[in-house]
Amino acid sequence: MKKLLLDVDCGVDDAQAIMLALAAPKVEILGITCVHGNTTVDNVYKNVLRVLKTCNKLEIPVYKGAAKSILGIKVGDENFHGKDGLGDAPDDADAPDAKKIQEENAVSAIIRIVNKNPGEVSLVATGPLTNLALAVRMDPTLPGKLKGLYIMGGNTESRGNTTVCGEFNFAADPEAAYVVLNDYQCETHLACWEFTCYNKLPWEFCDAWLGQDSNKARFMAKIFRHSMEESKKDSGSLNSTGFISCDSFAMAAAVDDSFVTESDRYPVSVELAGTHTRGMMIVDTQGLLNKTHKACIMKKVDMGKFEKMMMAALK
Ligand code: BDR
Ligand code: CA
Repeated sequence: MKKLLLDVDCGVDDAQAIMLALAAPKVEILGITCVHGNTTVDNVYKNVLRVLKTCNKLEIPVYKGAAKSILGIKVGDENFHGKDGLGDAPDDADAPDAKKIQEENAVSAIIRIVNKNPGEVSLVATGPLTNLALAVRMDPTLPGKLKGLYIMGGNTESRGNTTVCGEFNFAADPEAAYVVLNDYQCETHLACWEFTCYNKLPWEFCDAWLGQDSNKARFMAKIFRHSMEESKKDSGSLNSTGFISCDSFAMAAAVDDSFVTESDRYPVSVELAGTHTRGMMIVDTQGLLNKTHKACIMKKVDMGKFEKMMMAALK
């Protein structure tokens, strides 16, 4: 049984990733921690509860974490994910019960859960890395107790989706991304922005996926409508010929060891200065940073498996 702990900023693709993990065989989700990002952290935890309610998994504990970046900046991606982060779709049957939020904060929950299961937990981060950065400052032994760390974030070709050179999760909190890439010296897997762009889900697949006769598919069709329309309009970011379910790649890699078929291993870091490059990921192909720790940067994945996992998520 794989033990996962998820740290999310639950927008639409985070919801897809969570549902993929919930449907995966031999996976136990120990908790879901929430962070600011696509929307406010208050919306994020409500969105996670909506997803869990739809999937009948409200027993999974949900924790609220950082509301802003390390430097106190609040971002958001309303244009793509909607004001509430889930496409502003009505929350009729899936209305969340706010009482289901845990009192413990996300950072201490991460530290407690990992320490209780040393060497067993894979941490999957699909939002800005603020909670993870705070957690390693509180407990520097934390990375050494993880089985693995899976991150959706960063970029490898200086192609941004938020700033000219910045991918959203890293650009939303560059200091946190810097801390995580430098201080989590554990097995680290990165699903970077360009890689996810090269692995779109064709629109015909999305039609079949959403057309399944289930509550989960109806829920996804409802929350996905807005970002699907935005993606179809947006030829500039390579989106238009299919949907980029960014966060689902990090999740799929965490639930299935055979999903990633080719990756590069390099030291990585994050640019903290620069007019256009703040928040951009740095790949040290020449070893000039003198870092011994190398991250696995996903290059090729089994898209057949991905489509199967995505289909299963809405069954
Ligand atoms: C990342 O930013 C968010 O909008 C998505 O949820 C994903 O985590 C892609 O850059
Ligand atoms: Ca996300």
